[in-house]
Amino acid sequence: MMYGILINGAGWAARQHAAAYCQRSDCRIVAVNDISESRAAGFVAELGLEDVRLYTDLSEAVRHPGIDVVSVCTPQHLHCENVLQAAAAGKHLVIEKPAAVRPGDLYRMRDAVAGSGVKTVVSFVLRWNPLLITLKKMLADGIFGEPYYVEVDYMSYNGSWWGGWNDARTVRQGVSASLVAGCHAIDAARWLSTTDPNAAALPKEVYAVAGGRRKGKTREFNPLNNTWKEDAPPMEYDGLEVILMEFTNGVRAKVCVNAECVMPYRFPIRIFGDRGTAIDNRIWSEFFPKQNDWMEFPVILPDSSDVSHHPFQAEIDHFIDCITQNTESHCRLEDAVRSHEIVFAAIQCYQTHLPVPF
Ligand SMILES: NC(=O)c1ccc[n+]([C@@H]2O[C@H](COP(=O)([O-])OP(=O)(O)OC[C@H]3O[C@@H](n4cnc5c(N)ncnc54)[C@H](O)[C@@H]3O)[C@@H](O)[C@H]2O)c1
Repeated sequence: MMYGILINGAGWAARQHAAAYCQRSDCRIVAVNDISESRAAGFVAELGLEDVRLYTDLSEAVRHPGIDVVSVCTPQHLHCENVLQAAAAGKHLVIEKPAAVRPGDLYRMRDAVAGSGVKTVVSFVLRWNPLLITLKKMLADGIFGEPYYVEVDYMSYNGSWWGGWNDARTVRQGVSASLVAGCHAIDAARWLSTTDPNAAALPKEVYAVAGGRRKGKTREFNPLNNTWKEDAPPMEYDGLEVILMEFTNGVRAKVCVNAECVMPYRFPIRIFGDRGTAIDNRIWSEFFPKQNDWMEFPVILPDSSDVSHHPFQAEIDHFIDCITQNTESHCRLEDAVRSHEIVFAAIQCYQTHLPVPF
């Protein structure tokens, strides 16, 4: 079987999707769609792709012969219409996060996908980071016993260093720090709050507060080179969100989304169970009798904001396996909707100051 791939949105994240498909002998990129034809042409040239048709209109691109999978890598406010179009054309979908910017769009996408029978994966790509894979396996193996509390933080001073920032920084197109980027931590908290090896915990109640000092300011930090800029376009939403979750299995979780921390990117993880604890890659467990210091295992941590560090290859490999074996991804749109619902519940809390039951 050879899968024909259409890359939609030829930007930063798309380069990693394309590189991952290129590593596979059963995938071939046959078309690239971007609002800018020159950007699409540069993308194809940079990746050394041959026999690729360029499009500037997705409705035409999805009709290109031989397309099986569409990677949706446009800015997030376009994902809904892109997914509706591609699902209607019967194409399997890799959908960049956030999957949508409004709850109603999410549900329309979910229903359209269900009706079309296509397979999906949403790029909560950290589910394939080696540390998260190891912790998930340790949870399933009972190393921590029954988890009761999980913390995951997203600490990233997002700004002009990111090409997608001009879309992401606005309320209309990015919505909030937790939707546009911190959703990775919310999804990881769900993923690490259950001993089920193939599922993420489901929300029962959410409460959240927001604050910080960056909103509306034009002075911007660049964590990549430790410099400041004075005239940057401002972030329109709060930079700090602290989100508390209770899951249906009784586990509590806390996610801090900090989009104004003056420091290099970090993605710290803590898991507390009734038989052991994980602090990132350091473990303490009843299963290791006479343990007298933290056991640290060498592994790639999720501590970089650079997409080339993210495990897109493992995500794409997983998704192609799902298509080939006719199975559903644990990170399919239907599941990812639950991570987005937590974001929208948090936003509701900022207005009502009341917990949101599910
Ligand atoms: N999973 C991750 O870790 C991760 C990392 C980075 C970005 N992302 C997500 O990927 C998406 C894209 O982000 P990016 O950083 O690659 O942005 P980007 O700006 O580098 O790329 C977006 C591309 O979409 C194109 N585009 C814009 N409007 C279009 C339209 N109407 N039709 C077709 N193409 C259009 C742009 O020309 C650009 O080439 C965002 O949703 C972002 O949140 C996810």
